[in-house]
Amino acid sequence: MAIRGFLFLSCLLFSFASACDRCVHQSKVGYYAAPQALTGGACGYGSLATGFNGGYLAAAASSLFRDGVGCGGCFQIRCKNRAICTGAGVKVVVTDLNKSNQTDFVLSLPAFMGMAKPGMGQHLKNLGIADVEYKRIPCEYKNHNLSLRVEESSRKPHYLAVKCLYQGGQTDIVAVDVAQVGSSSWQYMTRDYGAIWSTSRVPVGALQFRMVVTGGYDGKWVWAQKEVLPADWKTGVIYDAGVQISDIAQEGCAPCDTEVWK
Ligand SMILES: *[C@@H]1O[C@H](CO)[C@@H](O)[C@H](O)[C@H]1NC(C)=O
Ligand SMILES: *[C@@H]1O[C@H](CO)[C@@H](O)[C@H](O)[C@H]1NC(C)=O
Ligand SMILES: *[C@@H]1O[C@H](CO)[C@@H](O)[C@H](O)[C@H]1NC(C)=O
Repeated sequence: MAIRGFLFLSCLLFSFASACDRCVHQSKVGYYAAPQALTGGACGYGSLATGFNGGYLAAAASSLFRDGVGCGGCFQIRCKNRAICTGAGVKVVVTDLNKSNQTDFVLSLPAFMGMAKPGMGQHLKNLGIADVEYKRIPCEYKNHNLSLRVEESSRKPHYLAVKCLYQGGQTDIVAVDVAQVGSSSWQYMTRDYGAIWSTSRVPVGALQFRMVVTGGYDGKWVWAQKEVLPADWKTGVIYDAGVQISDIAQEGCAPCDTEVWK
């Protein structure tokens, strides 16, 4: 199996006839002119987001943001006007919500311009909103494991809030549990908002984590059973979970896109 420490949880009894890991969607995208856009916002990544994915960021519409479940998801987006855009388009990561339902995504300016052929950037920018097609793709973080940042709102011993960072693969994190290392007394955490999970029942000592990741038809546990947070965990510090997610979930659609966009 692709993922270290993964246990098979469930395989729901859907029809697999139309199971597809590359459903292509038709939509429009706009862009944010302000360079600092997409770093505040609904996912809670803050200024960390500027370092994600070379600044190729996206705010997703509510239907893709899914109350924060969509934070950290990766998409390949290409504009349909082949005279001004490349066939590969750009690969973006979702770091914010845009409540306007005019477009499925609002991109950072570098990402929007990144869809253009050389010399065609200004032309694309002048359009303001571009007709696009897009598909979800796996996130790849070659230099990072899944990591947890202890948020400033955390207060020992009564409150722990962590932000999930560098979530690889093409799945959603839908549950997070925490326990003392070596204990099987797991305490569930709840999603505060975006990528931030918290509990007011904080186990003592060094902490291990487990997560349920799902997408489409499959659900699995990801275990980070080594010490992830030391007993003296501190706010503002990013801790390496020692595991990475690389699973690709299936959606239902037909026809399934088998083409590599390039
Ligand atoms: C959504 O994006 C548009 C640009 O397409 C922008 O003008 C608007 O301010 C954004 N809305 C929010 C709530 O960020
Ligand atoms: C878009 O949002 C507006 C206002 O929130 C709503 O009235 C409209 O029905 C929405 N359109 C679609 C296609 O969902
Ligand atoms: C990810 O975690 C594994 C196991 O703890 C470790 O060997 C590896 O160096 C980590 N990778 C990165 C990129 O930090």
